[in-house]
Amino acid sequence: MKKQKKAFLLVYGCQMNFSDAERMAGELASIGYERTDEMAAANLILINTCCVRESAEDRVYGKIGEIKHLKEANPRLIFGITGCMAQKEGDALIARAPHIDFVLGTSKVRELKTIVREIEAERGLVDTEINHGARVTASVANENGAKLRTATRDKRGRFVDVTLTETELPDGGPVAREGKLSAWIPIMYGCNNFCTYCIVPYVRGRERSRRPEDIVREVEEAVANGYKEVTLLGQNVNSYGKDHKLADFADLLKMVDEVHGIERVRFMTSHPKDLSDKLIETIANGTHICEHIHLPVQYGSDKILKAMHRIYTVDSYRALAQRIRAAIPNVALTTDLIVGFPGETDEDFQEMIAFLKEIRYDSAYTFIYSKRSGTPAATMEAQVPDALKHERLNQLMAVQNEISKEINDKLLDTVQEVMVEGPSKNDAAMWSGRTRTNKLVIFPHGTEQAGDFMNVKITHPQTWILKGEVV
Ligand code: SAH
Ligand code: SF4
Ligand code: F3S
Repeated sequence: MKKQKKAFLLVYGCQMNFSDAERMAGELASIGYERTDEMAAANLILINTCCVRESAEDRVYGKIGEIKHLKEANPRLIFGITGCMAQKEGDALIARAPHIDFVLGTSKVRELKTIVREIEAERGLVDTEINHGARVTASVANENGAKLRTATRDKRGRFVDVTLTETELPDGGPVAREGKLSAWIPIMYGCNNFCTYCIVPYVRGRERSRRPEDIVREVEEAVANGYKEVTLLGQNVNSYGKDHKLADFADLLKMVDEVHGIERVRFMTSHPKDLSDKLIETIANGTHICEHIHLPVQYGSDKILKAMHRIYTVDSYRALAQRIRAAIPNVALTTDLIVGFPGETDEDFQEMIAFLKEIRYDSAYTFIYSKRSGTPAATMEAQVPDALKHERLNQLMAVQNEISKEINDKLLDTVQEVMVEGPSKNDAAMWSGRTRTNKLVIFPHGTEQAGDFMNVKITHPQTWILKGEVV
């Protein structure tokens, strides 16, 4: 019996990165790697990285350091860095940490297998039974047959490939999904918006949309494999199809809503600048489309929104939120907010607090502005001191937490449809699931199983979770 090769994948960042990692795991499975939760037991360690804020990068550098002793103990261990930070840093990562074997950029998901096989071959690790005797050559075409490997080697012989393929999509490969109920489905890659604080457009390239039939087919396959819920992913789903013009996002959402057997359809992220009335109507008229829109406002004053290059104004955002709420009863609106953007004054900050109190989001992800070199905001004047950024973040969170609690309090004694996910993280006697509005509900476990839809009466609403009981 051959010993099963094991891969440990550590993933940081947004849903897109988790979705990419599932595709990488699929590629690795096709050459005999099974995913493990135990880093020390792995033959291959991969970190799929994020660079959206400095703190994300710091965490990755910490992990890279930790892996050094594993590599010293086992020189045959294969260690690679992929994702946004790999794209941004390239071979500088290897210069800093020579125990890295390869660095692959964000559009190289389908190349992973080839590089890993080459390293295996060099180390005499090729398991012919598992690899079916695949020939490993210097430039190997992948299944698309079209593109050749473009990796070069640094002076130590490490592989580095951060060419950003802006036209091709990493479609058609195997996917090894992590969950069993809920599937991430990328619908487009890249971003064209260039918000002045954001690194994403530089590391993910220009917007490119998958073909609608490919997306629908992936949803159908997921449903056939028992998945009940899909989340359609893109940096700005509202731009879907602007390139190929085969369908816009509203059209796509409708097609996915109509897939036989699908129970819940989610999507993210929506940029407020181009969320159309047609889309609002599609969500309102949908059957399985969940009543939750993640609609990041980022800031609540026109001066800062303009400096951020967000295109919309406070007034146009407010009007959009009103149209959404008028058309979709009980919709949950959530947002992302950044404090400490360059030039932010106390006045701007108070304006944002007032805006928050007016819009009343169900919940918000709040971030401290992090300088990303190469982005326009990094060199803007009047950078905000760290202590002040932290103080404003705390104030902002306090205001939002109060609003979240008040909104959740209104759900007391209501009955919510919950998709059961499984045991709660903190208490195995309690189970958890989500409402259509994406709120986490905790309830005592009876006979229900993961994937069941239950009616749960909310008995103890809290800021972050709702406690209840099955009725
Ligand atoms: N495309 C999505 C999300 C991109 S990244 C969108 O536009 O909403 C997720 C969030 O990280 C952003 O919404 C923003 O709030 C935050 N973010 C991006 N760059 C940042 C930076 N330099 N500092 C702090 N937060 C940042
Ligand atoms: Fe970044 Fe803006 Fe693109 Fe979102 S829309 S990924 S915040 S540039
Ligand atoms: Fe991070 Fe890249 Fe997502 S920078 S937030 S993992 S697109």
